[in-house]
Amino acid sequence: MQNLKTLQQWVKESKRIVFFGGAGVSTESGIPDFRSVDGLYRQKFEYPPEQIISHSFYLRDPSYFFRFYREKMLPLDFDPNITHTVLARWEQEGKLLGIVTQNIDGLHQKAGNTRVYELHGSVLRNYCVKCGKFHTAQFVKNHPDVPRCDCGGIVKPDVVLYEEPLNAQVMDDAITAIANADLLIVAGTSLTVYPAAGLIRYYNGNRMVLINRDETPYDSHANLVFHQSLGEIFKEL
Ligand code: OAD
Repeated sequence: MQNLKTLQQWVKESKRIVFFGGAGVSTESGIPDFRSVDGLYRQKFEYPPEQIISHSFYLRDPSYFFRFYREKMLPLDFDPNITHTVLARWEQEGKLLGIVTQNIDGLHQKAGNTRVYELHGSVLRNYCVKCGKFHTAQFVKNHPDVPRCDCGGIVKPDVVLYEEPLNAQVMDDAITAIANADLLIVAGTSLTVYPAAGLIRYYNGNRMVLINRDETPYDSHANLVFHQSLGEIFKEL
């Protein structure tokens, strides 16, 4: 209770909030995360999911890759939840510097946020590897096998696969935002995947809030920790 009051006060006083999030931000929209008990990585597949969504696997067996991607990683019919909505309101009120997200679902933009730094890309952007033509996520979703452009090239989602580097500009923008934050809210992420998780070290203030159902390796670095669901906290903000 006292912690919630402190957070409410900090939000009220802040002018440069940065939100750093992961898959837990979208579970209340109905999209499963990766590492919780009902997460994607706890399900049984022919290969470990981290292997399937790697660059080398994509090159080796694009047909299998796209079957898995379409079924498990292409959430198109979901809506923003209370957390997304509150963050969009903060941007409108001019108190949110930006959102740094590991999610690829585009729900922050659907809620109305414009300054979203997508560390792992987005399912909404898809490009032909040969001619560079843009294709929609629906195009990829509807395709029965490996999606191909008119020119014959494979249409690859702009999603960062394991073994692929993160976009340097997005990283720079995310670091700048975090370094300039007066309040950093880290939420819905296990903080186990690098380099994304390491970015929160660029925060140099003393108002870092961590909201996550499970414990994380960074709990002791935070000034305020909530092991609760995001919806429970954000409906109070
Ligand atoms: P994880 O699945 O690793 O962690 C999600 C965290 O959110 C867990 O610790 C849950 O306890 C917590 N959580 C889930 N629902 C919640 C809720 N409603 N309220 C509060 N907490 C909740 O997901 P990420 O940390 O995002 O990368 O995973 C990082 C990266 O691993 C992903 O971006 C993806 C994956 O491999 C790539 O695909 C490159």
